[in-house]
Amino acid sequence: MDEEEEKLHILVFPFMAQGHVIPMIDTAKIFASRGLKVTVVTTPLNAPLFSKNLRRSFPSIAVETLEFPAAAAGLPPDCENFDVSMGFDAVTKFFVAAEMLQSPFENLLAETRPDCVLADWFFPWTTDSAAKFGIPRLVFRGTNFFASCLSELTRIHQPHKRVGSESDPFPVPGLPGPPVFLSIDQMPVIDRLLGGETFVGKVFERVAEAESKSYGTIHNTIYEFEPRYADLYMKELGRRAWSIGPVSLCNVGIEDRASRGKESSIDEHSCLRFLNSKKPRSVVYVCFGTLANFSDPQLKEIAAGLESSGREFVWVVRRETNRGGGGGGGDDSWLPAGFEERMEGKGLIIRGWAPQALILDHVAVGGFVTHCGWNSTLEGITAGLPMVTWPVTAEQFYNEKLLTEILGIGIAVVGVKVGSGAVADAVGRMMAEEGEEAAEMRRKAGELGRIARRAVEEGGSSYGNVSALIGELKRDLRRRGK
Ligand SMILES: *[C@@H]1O[C@H](CO)[C@@H](O)[C@H](O)[C@H]1NC(C)=O
Ligand SMILES: *[C@@H]1O[C@H](CO)[C@@H](O)[C@H](O)[C@H]1NC(C)=O
Ligand SMILES: *[C@@H]1O[C@H](CO)[C@@H](O)[C@H](O)[C@H]1NC(C)=O
Repeated sequence: MDEEEEKLHILVFPFMAQGHVIPMIDTAKIFASRGLKVTVVTTPLNAPLFSKNLRRSFPSIAVETLEFPAAAAGLPPDCENFDVSMGFDAVTKFFVAAEMLQSPFENLLAETRPDCVLADWFFPWTTDSAAKFGIPRLVFRGTNFFASCLSELTRIHQPHKRVGSESDPFPVPGLPGPPVFLSIDQMPVIDRLLGGETFVGKVFERVAEAESKSYGTIHNTIYEFEPRYADLYMKELGRRAWSIGPVSLCNVGIEDRASRGKESSIDEHSCLRFLNSKKPRSVVYVCFGTLANFSDPQLKEIAAGLESSGREFVWVVRRETNRGGGGGGGDDSWLPAGFEERMEGKGLIIRGWAPQALILDHVAVGGFVTHCGWNSTLEGITAGLPMVTWPVTAEQFYNEKLLTEILGIGIAVVGVKVGSGAVADAVGRMMAEEGEEAAEMRRKAGELGRIARRAVEEGGSSYGNVSALIGELKRDLRRRGK
């Protein structure tokens, strides 16, 4: 058998949402760099977001597009990108449109005849589609095992159906190790809808079912971070799973030089100049992700808290410009009077996009105030930073518990409205030069960062899991007589 014939062909199908696409493209690169033939499937408006980068860094990866039936599902015709903030009605329509992709997707399978499909967990029907062609479907579950276990255990045992109110804590049944308490208001909407009558709830029933019938799942995490929950997921919950994270590290040393160059902006330069002038580990980085939408009073409390903490900071504010009456950009009524003048040289406010990975990796940064989106969280862990955790939505509360209760590198900020005193207190505790708590968090965070970076190198656990997965796929393929 010649080389070409041996080459495994994997079709990668990310869900059309930024947080889903980026790590799946990274995963596609990982498979390509390990010698697989890779085809990425997406929609016409999503393709340009990454195809240029792929053409430059991984020209061997093919990109195929499927027309997205937005209009047929009652969405605006150019709506090809999912975003929870679009509201429940549009979310439902988006899932309706996504299901309509099934038959064109199957036509593509007939044409391209891949050996394996790796599809986002939001596409439950791809398990059946792949089965029609006798090929395995892998589920991309871009999260960690701990969060997956909480979702699965609440789905199975429905403990939240037995509490009095949304804020009543209940222990998660079936979890090994220290008891973990949740309340309904800390559960992702998806987990709350399971077992209910809504269309989206039914989609996620099928997601769980498809996952158990699929070949296995890929998690963007590191086995050593959470062996107890990885084992629970695989042994008790009976899922096959491979942890291959942090997938974003695939960009280091391969093509990141080029994309770093491309991304340079005035922000990046002024940001680096600011950080270069600071002492090691002295600056707090504050960023709540793309979706967090804090009210003006809450932003004022954060500002006042940062000021009274006395710490130097970089604060990314993704504030909608259409608020505060009249629209337009430069409305800073959400800042305390004279704030930026007083913070001159001490604090840098970035409005909009920030070169996050670059900031997190800078020696001057000593701590991260985060909304606990897994993408950001993993970047923070990889950079070896302790964190102040401030979850807002989705599975961010699960990630917070992993950081604070399991890994011991996070300090939780609690409450729907958080006052400046609580902000200053949490930041102060994280950044303290003295005392056991901060020292211990720094030590653990540093160790986890080293583990994460080692995991993706040859001999590391994530590298090994990729090899194991490819090996199994090839063995199965031979067994099926191809
Ligand atoms: C994580 O999010 C940041 C900010 O939105 C983005 O720049 C980065 O590419 C994302 N990384 C991954 C792996 O999704
Ligand atoms: C953000 O919050 C404001 C009010 O504080 C609201 O009007 C707006 O719709 C919110 N936007 C999103 C995307 O949630
Ligand atoms: C993934 O790596 C871990 C740690 O090396 C190992 O225990 C586990 O068996 C691997 N998983 C698979 C499916 O090979």
